[in-house]
Amino acid sequence: MDNTNEIQAKRKRVLSLIQPTSVPTLGNYLGAMRNWASLSAEYDCVYGVANLHALTVRRPATDLRKQTQELFAILLALDLNQGNNVVFVQSHVPSHCQLSWILSCYTQFGEMSRMTQFKEKAAQHSDNVNVGLFTYPTLMAADILIYQADLVPVGDDQKQHLEICRDIATRFNGVYPNTFTVPEPYIGKLGGRIMSLQDPTRKMSKSDPNPKGAISMLDDENTILKKCRGAVTDSETVVRYGEGKEGINNLMTIYACCTGESFEQIETAFAGQGYGAFKTAVAEVVIAALRPFREKYKAYMADPAGLQSIAAEGARAAARIADRTTEKAMKRVGLWRI
Ligand code: TYM
Repeated sequence: MDNTNEIQAKRKRVLSLIQPTSVPTLGNYLGAMRNWASLSAEYDCVYGVANLHALTVRRPATDLRKQTQELFAILLALDLNQGNNVVFVQSHVPSHCQLSWILSCYTQFGEMSRMTQFKEKAAQHSDNVNVGLFTYPTLMAADILIYQADLVPVGDDQKQHLEICRDIATRFNGVYPNTFTVPEPYIGKLGGRIMSLQDPTRKMSKSDPNPKGAISMLDDENTILKKCRGAVTDSETVVRYGEGKEGINNLMTIYACCTGESFEQIETAFAGQGYGAFKTAVAEVVIAALRPFREKYKAYMADPAGLQSIAAEGARAAARIADRTTEKAMKRVGLWRI
């Protein structure tokens, strides 16, 4: 082993996935994906499209396929497929499901019943409270543990799922020592919870019934401007971070994430300018942040055969790691391997 390999062998692994429920929002970008790109310098990263998780909510098959391909192209356009990184689609690596089953046998019904996202989603889709929705966190735990991930960059809303993943891994390791790396969550200092532009007490979400509440990563510049200008604020006119100013706090967070400026710098820069000028400035920095990836995205989407071959390559690279862990777990629990 030469020196370079030794150093590479010590690099920690980062993993994160995103669901292809529709085009990702500015919340997904600022809360998660923006950090994904910057982590590539320091870690070996595995990033993927969680299309199996997306099956928990019913939609036309053609939509799911299209949204999976679009999201995969978005990940590539964000330059995540660089160096030792792996970018893949979850369903292309079948061992996720095998490990998920094993893990579900080491997960208690009671702890799963406490998942707040399950309760929220069950209320939102009361006509389809399927078992997949309930066991969703064990598939997510399999996604993470199968790559022996050290660090999982996510937004604030996934914290509880990360905790249960750590509990499952620790429990399993208690019976079969050293099977899984117990992962740590990585939640950025800023942007872990970007709120809706129309109701700043709720998180910005792909499934927001009010389209003005969420900025999509593929919105055109004019739409972004309109959505920012229409953002709900308060009756004061001072740009400052404070209690009872959820709308302005959210816009300041977005501005700070996009520019790297502190809240104090923003307050000084916009002193005496009112909300109109600030909202336009927020739109401008969002547009500038999203612009570079847009052209690359179009190029990937214009070449379906190329996209397919990158996906096949990603699946092979992902399976090389995933299958090794699954094999180890299968042997440990006593499944007959032939
Ligand atoms: P998903 O697809 O809902 O969201 C993808 C990522 O975006 C973050 N996020 C936000 N961050 C800040 N503000 C917001 N308003 C906001 N909305 C979403 C999410 O926290 C997430 O990091 N279960 C996961 C997908 C998944 C996964 C995994 C994640 C499947 N397997 C393994 C990590 C590791 C989900 O539904 O994310």
